[in-house]
Amino acid sequence: MARRRKIYEGKAKVLFEGPEPGTIVQYFKDDATAFNNQKKGTISGKGVLNNRISEFLMTRLTEIGIPTHFIRALNMREQLVRQVEIIPIEVVVRNVAAGSMSKRLGIPEGTPLPRSIVEYYYKNDELGDPMVSEEHITAFGWASTQDIDDMVHLTLRVNDYLSGLFLGVGLKLIDFKLEFGRVWEDEEMRIVLADEISPDNCRLWDVKTNQKLDKDRFRQDLGGVQEAYQEVARRLGVLPVEVEGEGGEGEDPRTPRVVN
Ligand SMILES: Nc1ncnc2c1ncn2[C@@H]1O[C@H](COP(=O)(O)OP(=O)(O)OP(=O)(O)O)[C@@H](O)[C@H]1O
Ligand SMILES: [Mg+2]
Repeated sequence: MARRRKIYEGKAKVLFEGPEPGTIVQYFKDDATAFNNQKKGTISGKGVLNNRISEFLMTRLTEIGIPTHFIRALNMREQLVRQVEIIPIEVVVRNVAAGSMSKRLGIPEGTPLPRSIVEYYYKNDELGDPMVSEEHITAFGWASTQDIDDMVHLTLRVNDYLSGLFLGVGLKLIDFKLEFGRVWEDEEMRIVLADEISPDNCRLWDVKTNQKLDKDRFRQDLGGVQEAYQEVARRLGVLPVEVEGEGGEGEDPRTPRVVN
C-alpha cells in the first residue's frame, strides 16, 4: 500500500492524510507523556485500547446526536476521521475534585463538586497549556462567544451521557478533557467533537474501591497502567484479546485482535 503523507505527529497520535479529501487517519501510539512532556514513557498496547475505546464512545455520542469527527474504524490502531480546524482550547469538565484543581485550590482529591465545573486551557505546549477565561478566548480571537456556548453545551451533554454510561460499568467519571474543531458545510460552520476520548484524557475511578483506572496510574507511578486501560476496555465490552502467532495480513502477529 502506498505510504500516506504524515500531517502531524503529536505525543499520543500520528495524523496521516486520509483517502478522501477532508479526511485524516488518526494512528494511536503507545507513547505516554505527562506534566507537559516532562515525564515520558510507553504503555504497551495503549494505542490499540485507546483507538477502540474512543471509537466506541464517539459512536455512542453520535447516536445521541452529538456531532463528532469519527467516520469509521480502519484497523487496530487507526481510525478515519473528518479533518477539522482544531479550536486551540481544551475544554475540561470536572465532577469530582482531582488533579490540578485539587492542587491549585486545596480541595482534597475525591471531593464531589456541588455542580459540574467547566474550565478552559489554551492549547500551547510551550506555555504548558495555561488555564484561560472566556475573556481571554474571545479577546485573543481563539473562539467566539457563540463557539464557546456551543462547546460548553456539547461538553455538558457529553458529561451527562458519559457519566451514566461509565456508572453502568462501575466507573465514576471524575473529569475529562475535550477538543473541538470547525467544519464547513455549504458555507455554514459547525463545531464538532474531535481528538479522542480515552483513559488518557478522562479520570475514571472504580465505583466501589475508588481505584484509579486512567493515566493517573502513569503520572503517579502507581503501576498496573496497561491493566487499567485494559480493564476500562473490558468493562465497555471492547477489549481486544492477545492472539499468538496468527496475525492478520500485514499486522504484527503480536497485535491484539478485537473480539466483538
Ligand atoms: N479531526 C481532527 N482534525 C485535525 N486535527 C485533529 C483532529 N482530531 C485531533 N486533532 C489534533 O491532532 C493532534 C493529535 O495528536 P496528539 O493527541 O498526539 O497531540 P498532542 O501531543 O496532544 O499535541 P497537541 O498539543 O497538539 O494536542 C492534536 O494536536 C489534536 O488537536
Ligand atoms: Mg493530545
